[in-house]
Amino acid sequence: MNDLIAKAAEMLAKTRHVIALTGAGISVESGIPPFRGPGGLWEKFDPMEVGHIRTFMKDPARVWNTLMAEMRGVLKKAVPNSAHTSLARLEELSILKTVITQNIDGLHQKAGNTDVIEFHGNFAWLTCMDCGNRKETISVNMDVLPPRCECGGIFRPDCVFFGEAIPEEALIRSREEARACEVMLVVGTSAIVQPAAFMPMIAHQSGAKIIEINPEPTPLTESVSTFIIQKRAGEALTAIMAEIEKRAG
Ligand code: APR
Repeated sequence: MNDLIAKAAEMLAKTRHVIALTGAGISVESGIPPFRGPGGLWEKFDPMEVGHIRTFMKDPARVWNTLMAEMRGVLKKAVPNSAHTSLARLEELSILKTVITQNIDGLHQKAGNTDVIEFHGNFAWLTCMDCGNRKETISVNMDVLPPRCECGGIFRPDCVFFGEAIPEEALIRSREEARACEVMLVVGTSAIVQPAAFMPMIAHQSGAKIIEINPEPTPLTESVSTFIIQKRAGEALTAIMAEIEKRAG
């Protein structure tokens, strides 16, 4: 396995346009459960129920008291792990340009990455569905759910529910970056939710190398990925960074 760490380090060290596509798996070591697989959120909740905009519009209290309550609990305590800080270091070294993340936890920005495309929005901000007033989630009283704006309207999180479109700007920029990059790191995603999972295919079709980091293979592994490092993100990215720093001497 170490030869794949060395191979990834060599590829990244000599490239000046690397981007990353990340999923819930990169935040697992920060204590945030993934959606799928053992202990995943979708084992507890039905995504097509409490994760769908239709349910939120019909019964916001139900979504706020279930999925949102669970997410608030874990997001409040979560801090970046060594996988996030490794990607921030790659940006410092001018190797990594952009992170396209499916996560709504804001941990890439907290780790120090400055160009983060939030494909599914984020949970850090709420918007009033009546007056459009935006407030930081941490500043809103959540003793009574659903949280309400001063105008009496109900707040919704700025994340993208199932049944909603990906923010246009995020989609356009992600496609551009996928087309332009030389290497795409694909970290901690099951690669089954579109259109995010299409980004590695765009990069591959544009001639980029795809390095997958995931303990499990995904639908990309055989068809799109140049190779997969079957380790947890923190372990793999820390080892790759150590190798790059050693070479930089
Ligand atoms: N390091 C790296 N990968 C990991 C780790 C880890 N420590 N732990 C788990 N994984 C991998 C799993 O093997 C799995 O492939 O992370 C992936 C998590 O998959 P999902 O839970 O499906 O997360 P994601 O791919 O981000 O889901 C995409 O689906 O439900 C929607 O909006 C939600 O953004 C989410 C989207």
